[in-house]
Amino acid sequence: MNSSKLVTSQILTTTLVASIVFFASCSNSGPDSSPPKENLRERILSEFPAELPPPPVPENNPQTVDKVALGEALFFDPNLSSCGTIACASCHMPEFGFGDGERISEGCDGATGRRNSNTIYNTAYLSHLFWDGRVQSLEQQALGPVVDPAEMANTWDNVIHYLSTGEHPISKQLFPKSVGFYKILFDQAFSGEITSTNVAKALAAYERTVNSRASPYDRWLQGDDSAMSRAQKRGALIFFGRARCSECHPPPNFTDSDFHNVGVPRGGHERAAMFPDNSQICGGIREDADPGRAELPFLQSSCSDLGKFKTPTLRNVELSAPYMHNGTFSSLDSIMQHYWNAARGSTTPIVGNLDERVHLIMLTDAGGHPDDFVNLTEFLKALTGSQIKGPPSGIAPPGGE
Ligand code: HEC
Ligand code: HEC
Repeated sequence: MNSSKLVTSQILTTTLVASIVFFASCSNSGPDSSPPKENLRERILSEFPAELPPPPVPENNPQTVDKVALGEALFFDPNLSSCGTIACASCHMPEFGFGDGERISEGCDGATGRRNSNTIYNTAYLSHLFWDGRVQSLEQQALGPVVDPAEMANTWDNVIHYLSTGEHPISKQLFPKSVGFYKILFDQAFSGEITSTNVAKALAAYERTVNSRASPYDRWLQGDDSAMSRAQKRGALIFFGRARCSECHPPPNFTDSDFHNVGVPRGGHERAAMFPDNSQICGGIREDADPGRAELPFLQSSCSDLGKFKTPTLRNVELSAPYMHNGTFSSLDSIMQHYWNAARGSTTPIVGNLDERVHLIMLTDAGGHPDDFVNLTEFLKALTGSQIKGPPSGIAPPGGE
């Protein structure tokens, strides 16, 4: 966040804290008194865009119906993997908010990666992908998983062979329906050229349709008072006010697209072998710690990036447990507990320094004011909006039959 934005958001926070004091005094008048919702709504509208714009689309990969349909089929097709059982959707499942419900994902033959599977929702809006931001476009990202030994463990030659002939080159199994299906869609989307670049373009085009908007929060912001519950409105006051969550999770996508160290504790799965270069980072850090963005000197990262990870969107966050880069928290409530602990200094980062904004988070003691955690968690649920329940157009993954 640049300094002028920081100042404006601090002014916003100050005025919102004032409105919470007002709210607190109202609430003394009885359990049925309503929060001062108009104040909060007007302030949000004056500071942030009212809604998500249509996602940006790169000039060299325009969205077309055929390309999106092709990308969708590819996303759900396990035959893009060497083992024939792992699709992109195995780790980004619609029913788990396009995560996979696991702390750490399993690829072909039980191979495991280092981090929790990111949601695909609203990635179209992100300028940096992955928890450490090492990739800048969906097209570039989509080239990786097919050949990653911890994911689909395949080669592009194998994938192109399967898409052109319908034969899975390792199992030698034939999928006759795939041939005609992919031929038509590659003809329509890419004049018949079956290449890794075009597979990646189609996957990216599909991912740009996996968006979440139209949540209760959005309807409330547009003026529908009944869209959010009383607890959610109280949670919104805390989120945009004294807890300062919105400084790093600003609407409309509830991420600042930046990287912060919020002191997430160990996930427990971290092993030294996962981080082979740790002895080279910032004079050497503990060998089983995730360095986060500091691992990427080619992106001009520095030691001040130790333990920093990308701020995730909070849209549809209710659906994609477990949370954080290492999947260490299984519930939203435990995240509130974490921010409370971190702000009080009772938990410290494994590497690097805690972001100063986390020190400023004001949440009241769970014992004294249990409502704070409940209300914030309820507000995060008000960000659950449009969802995709399965392959949206009902196209069965051709290789899955
Ligand atoms: C074995 C599990 C697995 C498979 C298979 C898989 N992914 Fe992922 N995906 C992950 C994990 C784990 C991450 C986070 C990795 C990191 O940040 O270091 C991720 C991150 C991503 C991201 C970044 C999202 C963000 O918010 O930054 C995108 C996009 C993505 N995957 C798309 C795909 C596509 C497309 C495929 C298929 C070609 C695929 N994934 C296959 C596990 C998987
Ligand atoms: C300093 C910036 C910052 C502040 C302030 C902040 N967050 Fe976060 N938030 C992050 C980052 C960065 C992550 C990912 C951290 C990681 O995985 O190591 C995150 C992760 C989360 C997640 C997990 C999402 C997922 O998909 O895994 C939730 C939920 C969340 N924050 C809610 C909140 C709430 C509620 C507040 C206010 C009490 C808040 N955050 C304050 C930066 C921030």
